[in-house]
Amino acid sequence: PLQTSEETAHWTARYIVNRINKFNPTRERPFVLGLPTGGTPVATYKELIRLYSKGEVSFKHVVTFNMDEYVGLPAGHPESYRQFMEEQLFSHIDLPAENVHFLNGNAENLELECQSYEEAILSYGGIELFLGGVGRDGHIAFNEPGSSLSSRSRIKTLTEDTRRANARFFDGDISQVPKLALTMGVATLLDAREVIILATGADKSRAVEAAVEGSVNHLWTVSAMQLHPKSIMVCDDAATMEL
Ligand code: GLP
Repeated sequence: PLQTSEETAHWTARYIVNRINKFNPTRERPFVLGLPTGGTPVATYKELIRLYSKGEVSFKHVVTFNMDEYVGLPAGHPESYRQFMEEQLFSHIDLPAENVHFLNGNAENLELECQSYEEAILSYGGIELFLGGVGRDGHIAFNEPGSSLSSRSRIKTLTEDTRRANARFFDGDISQVPKLALTMGVATLLDAREVIILATGADKSRAVEAAVEGSVNHLWTVSAMQLHPKSIMVCDDAATMEL
């Protein structure tokens, strides 16, 4: 662990920048980056913006795939994950708009949308580096407890606990938090060539314990990362207190 959440953000942003810069310098292929939303990655996004503004990295040859999106929020809703990413990262860097990929929670056929998303990832040759967060109950993306570890992108019903935790973004009103979301599956995440899971704060300590010391199981979906040959969990001190 690093000591503070700020240190985790700095470490992670630097790591991502180094990976982008060292990847395929001839730019024949784009660097495919998987991204999360939530409170945890915000500090990392700030640091990425700072490194970009210092000229240390360009995102022109980066392609992004966000891991999840609410179903049914109107386009441009401030709490849609797409809007969140615009505000927290995309509008501040030189990432071309056409390189951004999102599950569309307003698609007419949500199942088809999920299938096309998996195909789009494959068309880029898969995800190079996946950055993720973790819920208090150990969910990754919106793979709630009980999700199959071989799951692919699909529609998920959100748990009461997740909706309660995310109500803080909706004026504290749980009734405004969507009940459904589209999410990449656990297997979609496992397919990435490298995964970094960020966990900060004491709230996440049970999830970190389950992820690192528990058995691989579908109740704490983050534990599936133990199956990945190259996954890193970046924590601050508080998040490791159950280890
Ligand atoms: C949501 C997101 C997850 C995220 C989790 C934790 O459920 N779908 O991707 O990891 O929240 O969010 P936070 O970082 O705000 O604690």
